[in-house]
Amino acid sequence: MSAATEELDFSFDSPEVRENPYPLLDRLRKEDPVHFVTELDFWLLTRYEDIRAMFTDPRVSGDRRNWQHYVRPPEGSLFRWVDEHGTMAVTRKEHTRVRRLLGSGFTPRGVARMNRQIREVVDRHAKPLHGRTGVIDIMAEFTTPIPMAVVSRITGVSAPDGSEERFSRVGQETIRGFFGFVSDEIMERAETSYRELSSWVRNTVSMRRESPREDLISDLVQARDGVEILSDDDIVALVSAILAAGSETTALGGTIAVTTLLEHPEALERLRADRSLIPQAVSEILRYGFGGASGTARYATEDFELHGRQIRKGQMIMLSVGSASRDPSVYPDPGRFDIDRDPKDLLTFGFGPHYCLGANLAREELVCMVDAALDFLPPGAHLVTEQVEMQSVGLFDRSTNCPIDFAR
Ligand code: HEM
Repeated sequence: MSAATEELDFSFDSPEVRENPYPLLDRLRKEDPVHFVTELDFWLLTRYEDIRAMFTDPRVSGDRRNWQHYVRPPEGSLFRWVDEHGTMAVTRKEHTRVRRLLGSGFTPRGVARMNRQIREVVDRHAKPLHGRTGVIDIMAEFTTPIPMAVVSRITGVSAPDGSEERFSRVGQETIRGFFGFVSDEIMERAETSYRELSSWVRNTVSMRRESPREDLISDLVQARDGVEILSDDDIVALVSAILAAGSETTALGGTIAVTTLLEHPEALERLRADRSLIPQAVSEILRYGFGGASGTARYATEDFELHGRQIRKGQMIMLSVGSASRDPSVYPDPGRFDIDRDPKDLLTFGFGPHYCLGANLAREELVCMVDAALDFLPPGAHLVTEQVEMQSVGLFDRSTNCPIDFAR
């Protein structure tokens, strides 16, 4: 352990750090940019340049099977499939093929086509919020159901009774299993929900084989790469992976967008006056509000040294994207929320070959959510901090609700 680490006396578990990790991240970036988090047994990277480089570094991999503490999930489970066939696990050639098959729907042009569907979903969830009073959990009523409904629209999968609420619940339970450091109970519920979800996907696949429609499953059913056709199993798992990657992240994004704007009323008023500023404001929200201490993981596939620290094969390296976004060498005065900033080269959606497939879609959803929120949030609306409920997910706490007082 270096002298630098010994001088840094803190715990990620302390209430102050959980409440606001940024002062600690600032210190780590300056004093110990490759920091070993003893409590959780991984390396934490905090500098923008290091994190960006790690996204394309051949000495690390996103494939969890390289982790020294890896436990193989049970045969037939979603997590086993993701670990063995997901985008991080497959060969480069296979990865390129899967991205090509899935990718067409997610280009800016593809997303523009979805724009009407996204607007319709957002407006439908925003409508009941107009004119309401009292404390409203906008996470439950607005930001969580929207990405689920959008994924349902885009893929063409829904619950058998068409209930959006049921689809959303089963989808959410499935993806909770993807968070790191979760209990066995959550994992079991995730697997049960995945089985239910996959039966819906499977039904949709067989219906679309009979008569294709304008949705992603129809595209996947017809997709051919040479002579190879995607199997039903592949499609089920791919769609579940999209659901997992695209719902919780975007729901959290919507919540962060609304709370960040409520904390910065002058920015909110400017956006009300000029909606054309929203896309740029969303970029600044993606920089300022996303990630905190946590991020995305890589696993060392060989021993190597970084800034004088010896990283061993099999160790986990957490890339703190939230810290990269607050690196003053890239974003001057990073703790200031400034909708005129238009930050470039964000790492919020990753970088390199695994760059987020849904980045354009997520941005579009966030733009629509902010636009709608500007209409339903009355002047004086504010977050009721004392009613916010937190849940610990490894290195950081995430809120499980977003109570906003629609005081009038
Ligand atoms: C604000 C919302 C979102 C954020 C912050 C986000 C962030 C990310 C990040 C950081 C990665 C790279 C992970 C890594 O390299 O370790 C990623 C990958 C991915 N994302 Fe997103 N994402 C969001 C929304 C979405 C949506 C809406 C979809 C699709 C509907 C999606 C689909 C994917 C997929 C499929 C990958 C894996 C790509 C690959 O491995 O080639 N994401 N996302």
